[in-house]
Order: sequence, then structure tokens, then C-alpha cells
Amino acid sequence: MAAVESALFEHATSPSPYVTEAARHLLSAGGKRFRPLLVLLAAEAGPHADASEVLTAACVVEITHVGSLYHDDVMDEAALRRGADSANSRWDNHVAILTGDWLFAKSSELTAQLGPDAVRIQAETFTRLVEGQILEGVVPEGDPLQHYLAVVAGKTGSLIATSARYGARFGGASREVEGALTAYGEIVGSAFQLSDDILDIASDSEESGKTPGTDLREGVPTLPVLMAQASTDPADARLLELLAGDLTDDARHAEALALLRVHPALAQARAYVVDQAQRAKALLEVLPAGSVRQALEDFADVVALRTA
Ligand code: IPE
Ligand code: IPE
Ligand code: MG
Ligand code: MG
Repeated sequence: MAAVESALFEHATSPSPYVTEAARHLLSAGGKRFRPLLVLLAAEAGPHADASEVLTAACVVEITHVGSLYHDDVMDEAALRRGADSANSRWDNHVAILTGDWLFAKSSELTAQLGPDAVRIQAETFTRLVEGQILEGVVPEGDPLQHYLAVVAGKTGSLIATSARYGARFGGASREVEGALTAYGEIVGSAFQLSDDILDIASDSEESGKTPGTDLREGVPTLPVLMAQASTDPADARLLELLAGDLTDDARHAEALALLRVHPALAQARAYVVDQAQRAKALLEVLPAGSVRQALEDFADVVALRTA
């Protein structure tokens, strides 16, 4: 991970100091580096975990992710990211969008070093990620929960699945292991987003580095909200009324957030995420028992139980 860290900053370098500063802004602010960590872990399932392609792939997924954060904060009008000012707040939407584009272009350059098949996988992943982001803002035609789970798999599951896939592939694992780890990454990645949704309601900005209640304010009905909305308990009448209305109003937003924080839907959503982690871990049976499989199991548990 130390090698990934220095490579990331090397890649986020432009001949223009202004571009370099904008591109490094969110990298310097921190972040969990969850995706590159998964690349490195999955690579341990093969015989060449230290191949240079593994390091390149780790940079590809983190730089793609960071680019998506620049754009996401424009979409969500978010002011805080990784405990720092978002790029749209530090500069403006133009800078944030174009820096996100620059990072996507940079990750494409790097992916080209991994060969045409990696380019195809990256392109398909990115298509899914962007489709997920687009569909988040579309009123569902069918079941809202199914729609939401598809959005989550697209916007977040896809890149985390590819992180596991690249790791397995460039670490030299068999196709069978690569397939299983890709499926594992898809489930863990979706669970990761669902945990993030829970944290958007349950955690403070000191913990998350983001502004709580952003999804509510943006009118994105996430898992705990969808579960609360299924309630027929008369005691939930006020919450349901708030959720059905405009939550950009500060007082209504604060009241809805406070009611959701003590609502059983939060525990129900957490239980769903824990189930998903179990499903993901079951896929690891293709790996021999040992430290690599154990680490990937622990990784799934951390996602389900994380508090930041
Ligand atoms: C935030 O991702 C956006 C989601 C997909 C939930 P992370 O929670 O991985 O953000 P950083 O990279 O740690 O800042
Ligand atoms: C972010 O989703 C997904 C992508 C960046 C692709 P969110 O909007 O839920 O993530 P946060 O809460 O801002 O990190
Ligand atoms: Mg957001
Ligand atoms: Mg968003």
C-alpha cells in the first residue's frame, strides 16, 4: 500500500501545477484506499502477487474512484469530502468536473499498460458505474428497492468487483478463482455502498469526513429509508410524511434525520448488509483455507460492520 500511495501521487502529476494541485486535492485529503487494498489482497490468491501489473491495476481503480468522487460531489452538491473541502466547494463545478475527467483520462492511460482485455473490463466497469449514477436520479418504474439495489451494484459494486478481478488476474490466479473473486467483489462492493448509506444517516462528519444526511437532502431514497417507508406502524406517520416531502428545508431535514436515527429500519438495513457479507464469504470456498482466504473473509466483515 505504501508503493500504491507514492505511485498515485506520481500519476496525478501534470506539466501544469494548477492541474496537479486540483488532481491531488482529494488524494491528499486521504480516503480509505479500499479498492487498491482489495486489488492487492486478491492478488495474493495467485502466484505473482508482487507483479508490477498488480500495482498499476491498484492505481487504476483508485484513480477511477477518485475521479468519480469529484463528479459525485458536483451531483450531490456536497461541500465536504474526506474531511476536506470538496473540489466544487474549494474551486467550482467546472474545475471539479474537468479534474474528474482528467483523472478518468489518466486511469485510461494506465489501463492501456495492462493490455486490451483490461481496457475492455475497465470500459465495461465505467459504463456500469456511470449508468448507476444516472439511474440514481431516475424515478423507478418497478419496485423501488430492486431499482435501488441495481443502482448500488452499478455505481459502486462494479468498480469493487473489478478491483478483485484485476487483483486475481494480474496476480496470476486461475480463471475459476478470478470468477469467484469477481462475484465476491460485486457483493462486497454493493454491501459497502449500503453501509455508506447507513452511515449517511447514523454517523457524524467527524467520523465520515462527509456531511450527514446528504442522501436525504438530495432526495435519494437509500436502503434504510426504503425500509422505513415500508412501515405500516401508525407511530411512523410523521416520518413518512417528512420523507414524502421536500427535505431541502433545514428543519424538516433535521427532524427526518433524528427520526431515522432511532428507527428500527436502521438495524434492519444493517442486518441485510451482514447477510450480504455472509453470501460474499461463501464464494471464497474456491480458495484453500489459510491467511489469504481469512483476510478476504475479514475484509467482507469489516465492510458490513464499519463505522467510518
Ligand atoms: C465513497 O467511497 C463513495 C462510495 C462509493 C460509497 P469510499 O467510502 O471508498 O471513499 P474514500 O475513498 O474512503 O474516501
Ligand atoms: C457515490 O455514491 C458513488 C460514486 C462515487 C460512484 P454516494 O453519493 O452515495 O457516495 P458519498 O456518500 O457521496 O461518498
Ligand atoms: Mg455523494
Ligand atoms: Mg451520490
